[in-house]
Amino acid sequence: MPGLPLLLLLLLWDVGSHGFPTASSGAQEQDAELVQNYLRKYYHLRTGTNKPSRQRSSSLVTEKLKQMQMFFGLKVTGKADADTLTLMRQPRCGVPDVAPYTLGEKTLRWEHTHLTYRLENYTPDLPRADVDRAIDRAFQLWSNASALTFTRVSEGQADIMISFVWRDHGDNNPFGGPGNILAHAFPPGGGIGGDVHFDEEKRWTKDFRDFNLYHVAAHEVGHSLRLLHDGDIESLMFSNYNYYGDNLLTQRDIDAIQALYGPSKNPIQPRERQVPQACDSKLTFDAITKIRGELYFFKNRFFLRTGPFYKTGELGAIADFWVPLSRGVDAAYEVASRDEVFFKYSKVWAFNAAKMRRGYPKDIYHSLGFPHTVKSIDAAVHEEESGKTYFFVASKYWRYDENTRSMDTGFPKEIAHGFPGIGKKVDAVFQERGFFYFFRGKSTDLILTQSGF
Ligand SMILES: *[C@@H]1O[C@H](CO)[C@@H](O)[C@H](O)[C@H]1NC(C)=O
Ligand SMILES: [Zn+2]
Ligand SMILES: [Zn+2]
Repeated sequence: MPGLPLLLLLLLWDVGSHGFPTASSGAQEQDAELVQNYLRKYYHLRTGTNKPSRQRSSSLVTEKLKQMQMFFGLKVTGKADADTLTLMRQPRCGVPDVAPYTLGEKTLRWEHTHLTYRLENYTPDLPRADVDRAIDRAFQLWSNASALTFTRVSEGQADIMISFVWRDHGDNNPFGGPGNILAHAFPPGGGIGGDVHFDEEKRWTKDFRDFNLYHVAAHEVGHSLRLLHDGDIESLMFSNYNYYGDNLLTQRDIDAIQALYGPSKNPIQPRERQVPQACDSKLTFDAITKIRGELYFFKNRFFLRTGPFYKTGELGAIADFWVPLSRGVDAAYEVASRDEVFFKYSKVWAFNAAKMRRGYPKDIYHSLGFPHTVKSIDAAVHEEESGKTYFFVASKYWRYDENTRSMDTGFPKEIAHGFPGIGKKVDAVFQERGFFYFFRGKSTDLILTQSGF
């Protein structure tokens, strides 16, 4: 957590490692159960009813853990390490990651390219028109990218039946149990084949709040069309939920659907998401911060890192270090070469050496004291000398005291007053040798100002 005095951190660490053995072994038991459930559900771990020896069962778990870590591109340790547990706790799709279709007969794909779908009921979370629009767009996404066409029907049996259900709903795949399953879908076929179920007990939205119905529907319809999970964190068919705007398809997704059904006749082909080019002069940044002496420039799912001598930058994927932020950040800062703090929408994440601190993500309202009118942070910078952090939101800025862990009074102020010459909005900012470096618009529009306001 940002700004905890060092002494308190050491104290907490001490308590956690020796203080309360019962509490920590309780947590370990919970972790072990999470791992078992997860591997059983998504990796077909069979810990049989005839009670295999402890040793045999633990070596099975190790094998499945390795398989899971390989699938997600994590470090393959065969152990339930922190990265693995973090990933397992994230909300996800209920369809297994490996060989999901062991139904005896081989399910291939739909034999016809014209399919029907029917929405059997609505969620009360959204107006009906919004639900219709989300579902229609999910089908349009796939018809735009392939030779498939879809028609919505309002009665009778459709190829793909869609419903909002809860708990045990008669298909042996209840919602609401341990784990965080949002929805599931069945591969092509008659009867339940192709059908999509959303967990009604989740909150469905049409924006970035959990959970965006269009995004989840697009993923599930992918399964209805015979696509499997993709371990590439970029793919729409990645197993875990992670909202990143409406541009959903990667080239891999497009290739996968076209391999099954052929290309679209639509003259406007879907555009895959773009990877930033380091030397593009039109490049803008989402966030910039120093981390352990190196400067990180964040853009979409990537960062550009420059060493102390500012030679050529090195491009990396955010997912390589900060798994939960793999889809991008709005703002970032570092406290005392110790905590990396990131913002996306109204949430804040704190990491220590790329390990997420316990209890995160948090919302910016309770943890930092922002008013609810603030929906996201444009930029943030921490000033080591004063222990203050500055947050930039549209034309205003706030100042936060990392020692007292509270917002300073008298804020927000106008950027134009506190930092004359910066303009009305900031994209990114970092501090270096007593200067704040502000970025707005194109990366060449660099503005320098002395810090200390
Ligand atoms: C499908 O393509 C059309 C253009 O042909 C576009 O207007 C529409 O937004 C696309 N739909 C989706 C969901 O991408
Ligand atoms: Zn899925
Ligand atoms: Zn179901």
